[in-house]
Formats: sequence, structure tokens, C-alpha cells
Amino acid sequence: MTINPVFTDATPVTPRDPEQQFRDDVLAGLAAPQKFLSAKYFYDAAGSDLFEAITRQPEYYPTRTEIGILDDQGAEIAALLPARANLVEFGSGSTAKVRRLLVHRTDLAAYVPVDVSESFLHSEAKALAADFPNLTIAPVAADFTRAFTLPDGLSQDAVAGFFPGSTIGNFEPPQAAQLLAHFGRVLGRGALLIVGVDLVKDKAVLDAAYDDAAGVTSAFNRNLLVRIRQELGADLDPAAFAHRAFFNADASRIEMHLVSRTAQTVTIAGQAVRFAQGETIHTENSYKYTVPSFRRLAAEAGWTPQAVWTDPNALFSIHALSRA
Ligand code: AVJ
Repeated sequence: MTINPVFTDATPVTPRDPEQQFRDDVLAGLAAPQKFLSAKYFYDAAGSDLFEAITRQPEYYPTRTEIGILDDQGAEIAALLPARANLVEFGSGSTAKVRRLLVHRTDLAAYVPVDVSESFLHSEAKALAADFPNLTIAPVAADFTRAFTLPDGLSQDAVAGFFPGSTIGNFEPPQAAQLLAHFGRVLGRGALLIVGVDLVKDKAVLDAAYDDAAGVTSAFNRNLLVRIRQELGADLDPAAFAHRAFFNADASRIEMHLVSRTAQTVTIAGQAVRFAQGETIHTENSYKYTVPSFRRLAAEAGWTPQAVWTDPNALFSIHALSRA
């Protein structure tokens, strides 16, 4: 039977006032003893382009390694999806990865990409619909970390989840466990979840991946300052901060910081913010797991490990998890 692509009415994402939220978050973060900014603010249009450019840097292995695992072992991964499953992708962005599962499974009932960017969601969904004409595509515009409902009219068949990209690494481990538990509630009983997770490895390899020679990650990090200057009317000079990224082995995470090159006071939305020379703004954590440490985290969230795939160099892992 042929089912035509269906585009449900995506639930619009309308935070009350994103501009005000950004200002409040920036001022609160920069008032803390260890100044910090949320990594979610990296991804404006320029930041998203910079992230795409990061994924093409020779030092940044995660994206190409995960795609390599999907190319080599996608058939086996896709074979674990329940028959006629509805496949929900959390924070879908580009469809490059899910395509590598979909090619192996023509029986899937629907693909449900969930992303905050409504325009991107729809352009990607349309491109996918052209290549998979028999697949029902039901995009949902929502923040996947919050409660959202799956579109009406999905088949009663099983629901599976897909969360590639090691985005899970951006969450503090307790929040990561909560997110996995939240996915369990969204997907329902008997769900399967496929998650991409970056692995702990040699510090030099990790450090280089987040401090590429071409300076793209540096520009990505400093783009936060560009946003603050442009959107909040700050007199701050992005060049007055240096990019610093390093693997903190004790915490098992990459930390990214912006380091004030001098003692300086900047005015942001009318508020004076002082920096000592060498003082940092902590801008991102990217947690790295071992296969057993990620399995423990998943188990805390009610998931049972089913299978795991890695590349030949054990740089990256893709886990299949199930729940009762
Ligand atoms: C998109 C969160 C997976 O942590 O590797 C890349 C973001 N930051 N380089 C990562 C990122 C700096 C990326 N994730």
C-alpha cells in the first residue's frame, strides 16, 4: 500500500519573548561566580553554519565517524526497529543520518522529525519526501527536551526513537538521564531508542577536535559574543576573548571557555560586566562516555541495552536501547 507524505500542522514554537529570555540568561550567566552561557545559544543562523563547517574539519571526527558507522552497519541497526515502527527523531536538523536507516526499511509507518526550527524542519521533510515517496512524514515543531505530543493519526504500531550526533553529551549526566527517561515517556511502552554517543579517548585527539587548526571552533565559540554584541547592544569586542577547549578527564567532558585577554568592563543591555584578565566564560560541556558508562546512564533512565556499534577505532558509539 502506498501512503502519501503527510505534513501535519506543526505545533508552533512561540516562547513568550526569545529576545528577553536571551538577555536575562546572558546577564544571569555573566553575574555568576564562574561566568557561563548556555550552549543552546550557539545555534543562530551563523552559528549553525559554523557548526556545519566544524563537522568538515579534519580534527572533528564525531560526525563523519557516526555517519561511517551508519554506512557500514546501518542495515543491522535498522533491523532492530520494530516492524512498521513510527520513527521519531529528536532534534532532527539534517536528515543525512536517518536516511541511512530509512534506506533499509521500507515498512516504517512514519518518520516524525522533532525540531525547534520550523522552516528547516519543513524544507528537510520535503526533500526527504521526494526521496522516500512511500513514507509518511509528520514533522513536529517543538523543543524535544520539553513535553510534546506525537502527531494524531500515527499508526498504532510501535514507536522508535533516534537521537544521533552525541547531543546527549551536552547535558549534565543527571539531566541526560532525565532526558532519556523523558524520551521513554514520549515514545511509550515497548519503545526502541537508537542513540549516538561520543566515546572517551586520548586527550590529544579530543582536545584537537574542539580546537581545530583552521579556527572554526574558535569562531563558533566567539559567535556567542557576536550575538550578544548584535542582539543586546553590548560594547564588547569578540576579539578581546580567546577560545579555550580542553578535555577534563576527571569530569569526562570537553569544556569550552571564552577567556578574557585583558581586565575589561563591558556594558551589556545597560549592565556593566567586569572581567579580570584570564577570567573565563564557560560556554559548553560535551560529555564523553565509555560503552559501560553510557549503558549505566541509560539503565538509570529505565532503558535496557540491546546492542552497540562502534567504528574500527572505537571513537564513537551507536546504542540500541529498549524498554518494557
Ligand atoms: C553538537 C553537541 C554534538 O559537543 O561535539 C562541536 C557541539 N561544540 N564543537 C559537540 C560542538 C564544539 C557538538 N554537539
